[in-house]
Amino acid sequence: MQPIISIQQLNKRYASGLHALKDIDLEIERGEIFALLGPNGAGKTTLISTICGISRPSSGTVIADGHDTVSDYRAARAKIGLVPQELSTDMFETVLATVKFSRGLFGKPQNDAYIEKLLRDLSLWDKHSAKIMTLSGGMKRRVMIAKALAHEPQILFLDEPTAGVDVELRRDMWQMVRGLRDNGVTIILTTHYIEEAEEMADRIGVIRRGELILVEDKHTLMEKLGERELRLQLQQPLASIPVALSGYPLTLTEDGSELIYTFDSHSDHTGIAELLRKLDQHGIDFRNLRSRESSLEDIFVSLVRAS
Ligand SMILES: Nc1ncnc2c1ncn2[C@@H]1O[C@H](COP(=O)(O)OP(=O)(O)OP(=O)(O)O)[C@@H](O)[C@H]1O
Ligand SMILES: [Mg+2]
Repeated sequence: MQPIISIQQLNKRYASGLHALKDIDLEIERGEIFALLGPNGAGKTTLISTICGISRPSSGTVIADGHDTVSDYRAARAKIGLVPQELSTDMFETVLATVKFSRGLFGKPQNDAYIEKLLRDLSLWDKHSAKIMTLSGGMKRRVMIAKALAHEPQILFLDEPTAGVDVELRRDMWQMVRGLRDNGVTIILTTHYIEEAEEMADRIGVIRRGELILVEDKHTLMEKLGERELRLQLQQPLASIPVALSGYPLTLTEDGSELIYTFDSHSDHTGIAELLRKLDQHGIDFRNLRSRESSLEDIFVSLVRAS
């Protein structure tokens, strides 16, 4: 199947000279949820704005559902719904009028039943005649989602959809995003909540200083880069790792009370039995041992830190 979005050699330089996107190549599959991760200022919003045709690329092309986002802007844009990072809407308008207006902007015929369903799905229907300025922050964010979906786009961009949203609403949003995906909408979201990417995404992209440094299926990523950790709580704190153990991938916690051994969970030979024998030989006793698998968060932190 043709990817729904195809990005080739995309570069963006701002007037300031900042090279915000560097040779981005990326294809988004139809019907997937793609999560874009990266630290502040990495270029996530710039990438989204450029794909949506809001910001012009300095070079390279973006094709959205068969339409070039520069030369065929209107057709491409009609396929896309965008929930921007910053709330931007007329606060004096009512919810219903705002959402209807957004649909009209794309030249779509009026469809009150669709708009009502959309607002009901977002738990906003009982607020449909309220002025937006009277809503809470989380409700305003949901209005932005309703606006983005008003013209029934095939592709939805969510730029930090759950920033500042409480846990319960975040879960509701995840539910809603999955529902959209089940209806065939392709979703690209950015987030700082790794937990969100871990929970929602089919694939993950990591961007750092304008470069897309990794694109991977979520499960593959966690398997490939996942390490396991064995933590041994020692009976007696150590001042340093004994020379006899220097060949092992061990670190000592700052207070010397725990030894941490990292190993590849997919290897047949973890080396744990051997390590435990060595500890015993050298009279290092431990009270307890715990094992844990690295999370997407650990993987992300190590990717972004590495230069
Ligand atoms: N309109 C602009 N003019 C000049 N530079 C800009 C503009 N918008 C963004 N930048 C710069 O481009 C870089 C990427 O910014 P961008 O907003 O894309 O980051 P981000 O990954 O979305 O960050 P955050 O997680 O904080 O939202 C930053 O260095 C930013 O200062
Ligand atoms: Mg941003």
